[in-house]
Amino acid sequence: MIRARIIGTGSYVPDRVLTNREIEKKVDTSDSWIVERTGIKERRIAADTQAASDLAYEAALSALKKARLKAKDLDLIIVATVTGDMPFPSTACLLQAKLGAKNAAAFDLGAACSGFIYGLHVASGMIRSGMHQRVLVVGAEVLSRFTDWQDRSTCILFGDGAGAVILEPTREKHGIWSTHIYSDGNLADLIMLPGGGSHAACSRETILKKLHHIKMKGNETFRVAVRTLEELAEDTLAKNDLDPAKLSLLIPHQANLRIIQATAKRLGLPMDKVFLNIQKYGNTSAASVPIALDEAVAEDRIKGGDYVLLEAFGGGLTWASALIRW
Ligand code: ACO
Repeated sequence: MIRARIIGTGSYVPDRVLTNREIEKKVDTSDSWIVERTGIKERRIAADTQAASDLAYEAALSALKKARLKAKDLDLIIVATVTGDMPFPSTACLLQAKLGAKNAAAFDLGAACSGFIYGLHVASGMIRSGMHQRVLVVGAEVLSRFTDWQDRSTCILFGDGAGAVILEPTREKHGIWSTHIYSDGNLADLIMLPGGGSHAACSRETILKKLHHIKMKGNETFRVAVRTLEELAEDTLAKNDLDPAKLSLLIPHQANLRIIQATAKRLGLPMDKVFLNIQKYGNTSAASVPIALDEAVAEDRIKGGDYVLLEAFGGGLTWASALIRW
């Protein structure tokens, strides 16, 4: 049986750190409220000269280096993003050019915060079917450009960054055991960026109405996220016939510490088996899971043979999970 296996991970976050204390000066909020309600202490903000493909490029280079591959070895590039450089060409094509990955096909995938795991699902299927051999999957976001810095309920949450993995086929037991993707478009209005597309193309009116900023019904989203992610985690383990006690590490989407704690509690998982970096980066949407995965690898939190569960939830609504035998 052929599976997809991760052979390299990489990540990149911009240098600029934006602390809660700095946000206190922009809107009516406090460091203690933000930490207590979300777990976030600071986030990274891209430089004016950096677009999503620039962040993706740094993460991809790092993943290629660890996989000991050259860009020309890639035959597919998938970039998960909702804050790409421009509507077209795709950020994946811009990344392909920057990398010099001339033998790859490249496309973007939009599933908001679940985008990276959606990308793993597609890449894993391509590899299992034999259609592609060496696939780069990147999650890259510059959410700070679409954040309403006057809206205290959202501007505290988001940050910029990118994470990447490289996959290849394996006949071993190690690799991606299963991926699961879901969506519910009936709940599209819970998180959206309404302007800029064909629904509300950029105009003076859309700018005045702030349609080019992220809108979120936070509390409703929170309640759906807790319920959905708890069920998703349990269901993914059950589908793999794996007892939660055997799980070595849960790498959740870093949107809110309380959501993550609820999932861990439902699985009976101690928090030392949950990877957290939300305090440093906030919610980086599609970049969140691959940045966390790369940091978990770098910190030696994952060893050969470990079972690792990835899960995410975001706009769409979308949600997704992956079970990996490392
Ligand atoms: N500082 C101080 N007070 C605030 C702030 C703030 N930054 N933001 C909101 N408040 C106030 C509200 O105005 C409200 O006040 P009121 O009671 O006087 O009306 C009160 O705090 C409670 O507001 P809630 O929205 O109910 O607060 P909640 O506990 O739900 O926390 C949060 C808000 C952090 C946004 C939370 O709902 C959340 O994390 N939601 C889920 C986010 C998520 O998972 N998103 C999915 C992925 S995002 C993507 O796909 C791009």
